[in-house]
Amino acid sequence: MTLLQWYESNRRSLPWRETKDAYRIWLSEIILQQTRVAQGLDYYLRFVERWPTVTDLAAASEEEVLKLWQGLGYYSRARNLLKAARQVTEQMAGRFPTRYEDLIILKGVGPYTAAAIASFSSDEAVAVVDGNVYRVLSRLFDIDTPIDTTEGQKLFLRLAEEMLNRKKPGLHNQAMMELGALVCTPATPRCGECPLHDKCLARTAATVSVRPVKQGKTRIRDRWLCYLLFKYKDRFWVRRRDAGDIWQGLWEFAGAETGAPVSGSEIRDLVRSFFSPDNQTAVDSIVPVVKDLHHQLTHRLLHIDCFIVNLSRDVRPKGEYEQISWTNWAEKAIPKAIFDLNGKISPFFVP
Ligand code: ADE
Repeated sequence: MTLLQWYESNRRSLPWRETKDAYRIWLSEIILQQTRVAQGLDYYLRFVERWPTVTDLAAASEEEVLKLWQGLGYYSRARNLLKAARQVTEQMAGRFPTRYEDLIILKGVGPYTAAAIASFSSDEAVAVVDGNVYRVLSRLFDIDTPIDTTEGQKLFLRLAEEMLNRKKPGLHNQAMMELGALVCTPATPRCGECPLHDKCLARTAATVSVRPVKQGKTRIRDRWLCYLLFKYKDRFWVRRRDAGDIWQGLWEFAGAETGAPVSGSEIRDLVRSFFSPDNQTAVDSIVPVVKDLHHQLTHRLLHIDCFIVNLSRDVRPKGEYEQISWTNWAEKAIPKAIFDLNGKISPFFVP
């Protein structure tokens, strides 16, 4: 059986595979960059329903896009999505490009994504190399060059280009990715079902389980976030996060990053630091809500503490905060970690 025959009879039917619309293919590829198909599918459907064309998306606000993106993580993807949509409407007369060289200039579109969109939408003969394809190629050719090095990336791209079926590049690329997703899987590959079984060098050499090789993992760093809900009646203080760090453009409670776990007496000092001496008398009580909640990001482990700080007067904490009611909070785009806190906090607001 050839790779394409295998693909035709085994492929999953997915909405972005039933279209040649480069805008829709691009949407699916950006969503699927760091997200599994099962999770990404609903988001894809919601996005195309809300914004059926690139012009519709370009007219959206960043807040709206972040809100619909909520839960997918890696929020720079959502911000770049909007920037790219505006590039297409402003510089390309609203016609979504289908050629590699036009796609690669779009914000958030790298070599993998440009090759995917170009080959799927217009059958341009460019090879895709994503995580699935690295795995398939490293096993097929039994390659021990690490995939996370410049040398490895060049080598794998060259192999992918040599293997590319130039008559059907779109189908070939989809087939390679699908083979990696369904058969040539990381832990327990189904070699018995593989159309490339007879050609696979790692299978002959019994090295399948140690391919691909990775050079090194990035060290996970710890961060400690201490949130203080300065609460007066049903209102509290929040801010939108700045550029240059996690959760850019998303909302969070008042508080501080502490660099280490904080003790009880340090919390009182921290709370005081938010108010002028006159206003410190407004602090009624400090109620712990969450202690050392773990939230894993790709290269970070977040340790989250959260306290309700009950205020007897409507005083403003120092810093660039906005006051919001519990009801309006639900409409903000917020990171998953903060969303997970909401359930613990709501009893303090909904009697
Ligand atoms: N992951 C990334 N792109 C994909 C696609 N087109 N189909 C299935 N999974 C994918």
